[in-house]
Amino acid sequence: MNKRDHEQMLEALRDETLVIHADDGVNNEGTVAPAIYYTATFRAQNASEFADMAGTPRHPRYYTRYGNPVHERVARIMAELEGTETALVTGSGMGAIATTLFALVSAGDHVIAQTRHYMSTAKIMDEMLPRFGVEVTLVEQADVAAIAAAIRPHTKLIMVETPANPTLVLTDLAAVVELARPHGIIVVADNTFASPINQRPHDWGVDVVVHSATKYLGGHHDLTAGVICTSKELAEQIWHTHISIGSVLSPMDAWLLLRGLRTLPLRIERINSNAQALAEFLEAQPQIERVYYPGLASHPQHELAKRQMRGFGAVIAFAVKGGYEETQRFVSALKLSLNAVSLGGVDSLVVHTAAMWEGVMSEEQMRTAGIPANFVRFSVGLEHVEDLKADILQALQKI
Ligand SMILES: Cc1ncc(COP(=O)(O)O)c(C=O)c1O
Repeated sequence: MNKRDHEQMLEALRDETLVIHADDGVNNEGTVAPAIYYTATFRAQNASEFADMAGTPRHPRYYTRYGNPVHERVARIMAELEGTETALVTGSGMGAIATTLFALVSAGDHVIAQTRHYMSTAKIMDEMLPRFGVEVTLVEQADVAAIAAAIRPHTKLIMVETPANPTLVLTDLAAVVELARPHGIIVVADNTFASPINQRPHDWGVDVVVHSATKYLGGHHDLTAGVICTSKELAEQIWHTHISIGSVLSPMDAWLLLRGLRTLPLRIERINSNAQALAEFLEAQPQIERVYYPGLASHPQHELAKRQMRGFGAVIAFAVKGGYEETQRFVSALKLSLNAVSLGGVDSLVVHTAAMWEGVMSEEQMRTAGIPANFVRFSVGLEHVEDLKADILQALQKI
């Protein structure tokens, strides 16, 4: 099949088929399972081919920091899932975010970001960009008027993360894009907490979609990776920074990520239904003070969630009745959910949020981020939901 026919075929396919076939034809070695190109460098057949490889941006067979056929397969699938022209693969989610930001902003530019971001993204906004002469304004993400009011003549980029870690507050993607468009401001969305199966920010006009592929996309808690989905033009610009920053995904981890992607739609379907059932169950427990999940009618932005998302994902945040000690006892008593950071994989993971961040955030910062002492973040996995409920019930008795 030629390239055009293949592109036309992909347009008609659904996510379940795209994750299996969007990378057809990338280095078709005649194997069913893709080959791992475990090499740092690629050999040219002659000097003129070498000149071509060296001079072609994003060549997938030149030097692995520049690209690799397994990266190319992952990128093809991710671009199709997110509906963007192309994608780049990085060594971690933070690699994707840092590379994107440092590629797109310069000294003298202004950036708008959220008061609540994943901690390391917040650090780039609070400390690193200002060190390089970039002005940053942090706004409450649910307040569209505050985002509008923050726009200045030199605003270059708006960074959003929705749902946001750990409180699951949403940002209205269509509203942000509508504000940004007339000023030519680039909108970057961290789509990690949703996954492209549950939310496609580019459909709302977002220019760059970034992911920690360590989470749902890999899906098995065995690799760290990142993805940047965008236009060909922005991807080339970001790639030039990528090869200097060097957040490179190893070919083996790219292969594991590829394997994870093959089952992404199936996993998300089950994760969504498990998490919805568990969120409703938690809301009915007398020992639980409050549950935060975009799929619950009680979520303050439930209407926006239904409009903007196709499913609501693995992460449920809730407050246990009591304080720090009671929350510690509850988390310690859980037997099926592992006490570990990260989310979106096959195993349910749980963290006592205040305990996770007390070493790196001041009490004041935790208050601003909306993290009380009795806050729990639960990432629902693929275990049977009735077993998860039973485990939670026995742990609640131990508070
Ligand atoms: C929303 C979000 N973005 C980015 C990251 C960073 O990803 P990584 O750990 O793959 O660098 C994380 C990690 O938890 C995250 O939750």
